[in-house]
Amino acid sequence: KRYGQNTLEQLLAIYPNEIPELTINDYPKYAHRGFMIDCSRHFFTVTEIKKQIAVMALLKLNIFHWHLTDDQGWRIAIKKYPLLTEYGAKRLQTRNDKTEVGGYYTQDEIKEIVLFCQTRGIDVIPEIDMPGHFTAACSAYPELLCTRQKVAVAEHFGILPNIACAGRDFTYQFCYDVLNEVCELFPYAYIHIGGDEALKINWLTCPDCLAKMQTENLATPEALETYFLNKMASYLMAKGKKVICWNDGISSDKIDRNIIMHYWKDNAEFTKQAIKAIAKGQKAIVSPFANYYLDYNYGITPLKKTYDYEHCFLEDNVIGLEAPIWSEYINTVNKLERLAYPRLIAVAERAWTNKPDYDSFLTRLDFFNKKLDHLLIAYTPLGEVNPWFLKRLILKLKFYFYSIDKNIIKSFIKVWQYKKKKRLH
Ligand code: ACM
Ligand code: ZN
Repeated sequence: KRYGQNTLEQLLAIYPNEIPELTINDYPKYAHRGFMIDCSRHFFTVTEIKKQIAVMALLKLNIFHWHLTDDQGWRIAIKKYPLLTEYGAKRLQTRNDKTEVGGYYTQDEIKEIVLFCQTRGIDVIPEIDMPGHFTAACSAYPELLCTRQKVAVAEHFGILPNIACAGRDFTYQFCYDVLNEVCELFPYAYIHIGGDEALKINWLTCPDCLAKMQTENLATPEALETYFLNKMASYLMAKGKKVICWNDGISSDKIDRNIIMHYWKDNAEFTKQAIKAIAKGQKAIVSPFANYYLDYNYGITPLKKTYDYEHCFLEDNVIGLEAPIWSEYINTVNKLERLAYPRLIAVAERAWTNKPDYDSFLTRLDFFNKKLDHLLIAYTPLGEVNPWFLKRLILKLKFYFYSIDKNIIKSFIKVWQYKKKKRLH
């Protein structure tokens, strides 16, 4: 009924005077049609989030994936661990700009968003990223860190080594406790536990992690990571939840294949691994970095590149498509909207239709843009979404000059050092 009303409005736009007699037999290609918003790197208010959810409903998207925790801010109130939001929800500055960024959702506000989504046919999937992207949690509870050092909520971006210690009981109990409250707040099937980009350099020398590896007979930090994610997954599955992890964290053969793979890392190595795992029966959500990461500008990812993406996985095991928008360099909702729309409309159509056609899609954009005008959404106009090659080059350079700084380079060096050290072990 909900979608029928949307469709009727679309028909009225085509036949303003009288809709001819017709029968519509339509259903979505995928059960999971998602949009992810990163509310950690920058905080978006309840009102700003609701505005995007209204667009999702218009586009017949049905999954709001809410990235709530990361190195740069913890955004969900947890009753058992109040310091998570007291310390973890605020950073003093971003890349030396001397401007504080803070904010979090109270449990009442979370319930308000969940209800708002519920009335629009949208399920909310919360993401609590672990064991990596955990600096904000560690800043509030330093005993989560292998080194037990006091650290600040991250003020720079990149892959950071402040990950949860996988050797200590406290970490496991902490994560279970947080997940308990999360399961209470989100009455849906799926919980996302991140699992991406965990730089395990501290685990190589932490006595607790090394002891855990010995008692559990785990030869490498990767094996310990698999052990940790399997533990979290089985805890959630015992509560009747389905669990999602980003694909780079779950590439080991020992991972519980009931975990749903969230494919983002789309280089040859990870794609090959994903093809294999999905062919063997693992379920997957598809969010290719090069096509669906909406935080990259239209020079890097033109609309057509998003629309035309074809995945290469066994169709039966793909549960859906999802477009993420990461907010490292998005500090206003206006910027978020300029980047998200119209590319999200393209992903929504690809998640719905069995007969994709880019040119035909363009004819529908007018209708949606008028709707977005009504919702006061700052979408990018059609004339700017597929720039010609020189403009593309300029936009690419602009993005990389703006985003790459010495801290990102330092974080890449750390990843490289980790790989080198690991070989020596
Ligand atoms: C990711 O982009 N780190 C999932
Ligand atoms: Zn440790």
